[in-house]
Amino acid sequence: MADLDAAWTRLEDAAKAAGEKRIVEMFEAESRRLETLTLDVAGLHIDLSKQAWDEAGLEAALDLAHAADVESARAAMFGGEAINSSEGRAVLHTALRATADADFKVGGAPVMAEVEAVRARMKTFAEAVRSGQIKGATGKPFKAILHIGIGGSDLGPRLLWDALRPVKPSIDLRFVANVDGAEFALTTADMDPTETLVIVVSKTFTTQETLANAGAARAWLAEALGEEGANQHLAAISTALDKTAAFGVANDRVFGFWDWVGGRYSLWSSVSLSVAVACGWDAFQGFLDGAAAMDEHFRTASLETNAPVLIALAQIFNRNGLDRRARSVVPYSHRLRRLASFLQQLEMESNGKSVGPDGQPAKRGTATVVFGDEGTNVQHAYFQCMHQGTDITPMELIGVAKSDEGPAGMHEKLLSNLLAQAEAFMVGRTTQDVVAELQAKGVSEAEIATLAPQRTFAGNRPSTLVLMERLTPQTFGALIALYEHKTFVEGVIWGINSFDQWGVELGKVMAGRILPELESGAAGSHDPSTTALIGRLKR
Ligand code: F6P
Repeated sequence: MADLDAAWTRLEDAAKAAGEKRIVEMFEAESRRLETLTLDVAGLHIDLSKQAWDEAGLEAALDLAHAADVESARAAMFGGEAINSSEGRAVLHTALRATADADFKVGGAPVMAEVEAVRARMKTFAEAVRSGQIKGATGKPFKAILHIGIGGSDLGPRLLWDALRPVKPSIDLRFVANVDGAEFALTTADMDPTETLVIVVSKTFTTQETLANAGAARAWLAEALGEEGANQHLAAISTALDKTAAFGVANDRVFGFWDWVGGRYSLWSSVSLSVAVACGWDAFQGFLDGAAAMDEHFRTASLETNAPVLIALAQIFNRNGLDRRARSVVPYSHRLRRLASFLQQLEMESNGKSVGPDGQPAKRGTATVVFGDEGTNVQHAYFQCMHQGTDITPMELIGVAKSDEGPAGMHEKLLSNLLAQAEAFMVGRTTQDVVAELQAKGVSEAEIATLAPQRTFAGNRPSTLVLMERLTPQTFGALIALYEHKTFVEGVIWGINSFDQWGVELGKVMAGRILPELESGAAGSHDPSTTALIGRLKR
């Protein structure tokens, strides 16, 4: 513990010293900076050289990772120990992308046979739907899937579909998550229930939003097909098989997974069945393989050369060393436009904790706010603030080196913007440079005095750049696994349990209390503001 406290102090001191320097000057002072801080792993090129740390900062960050014993924590996770201590569960989403001969155990019992059995059923089902062997109640093949789920039962598959979907899919895939009926209405408006397979996805099968949408979908199917017919259009994914049976889904249409897979880590499981059907099994298998390659790297590489560890340390350096409380993730890829939404759940639900597993307050700040959207669109939205705002927000920029999609010449434009932004964040633009330009244009000295500061870019804003060679199922799988392991490493260093989510419960309980008050006018006891709002809604 003393070692850990000392390592934290060293990191904070090193960050303070690095914070006085300019990143561009670190390149001049450190001859091996680019080599040390760029890595090639599982089809991803990761450049951490534009981050805010200097050599001493990186060393202090690595010392911190050693002091926090990231290596033992990593072994405990892969070893199937119950590291999700508040729920007494192992954390083995890595088993879901492993090969059949891998040695994963939970509580001493091997799990790969079960994993393989579900994978085999998924593959058979996916192929049978795609080939038309499994048909709808009227004998027509399925042309569309309606995937119903929320949070971890939605964000991953949605992102996966965007990333891998064919331009003209033979089977369309739509998603409904929100309990706002508008989403259901808008999504199903042009769908034909006689050609739609509804897949209800819920780890617990108790989630209000999902059950409400599942009920609506069943009614929508039944109106066209009758109750019996509707059942032939339903499949369910859950760990709660008793509840899927109670909902009326036939056993051979239910695909399970395990309580050692967290909701936000479940896109490797049957949770993504809809994508496996709509994109085909090979694409889904490639996605698993890419993640497995990242797992192998994370499990075996030294901390010093370990991509998830280094990317986590950059975050900790910014967050704890330099007090930067947000991070923006910007994929320069339309297909990855929902990445930040996915990462919001992955990182903020995992590490948005202020108490450790021992019940004691965390000693340092934990998860930061993550936000972002697709580049280049964001350049015309919030990037002004990223370049010239008073707070420095570290950036994570993601690009795809090669793409044959779309009209010729556009991809180079996209890439030029990606590189330009990363450079601009770091280099900025000096006042002298602005003054010279204005003088050359003949602007008066009085005007220059007010204009030049406004047109100056301080720069020195850190960024990480992740470049995928191509966006393939494999590189995409590796990217998501990179972020999962990054999140895990941060949780270990912050001393929190990244795998529970007690913070989502209170609002659910309170909504459960308020609902009968809105529905039937039942009396409740609330704070004055909430009471007034309930009264207003009832009127
Ligand atoms: O409310 C948060 C949460 O529990 C997430 O952790 C989970 O991914 C989501 O709800 C959906 O849960 P389920 O898959 O059980 O419906």
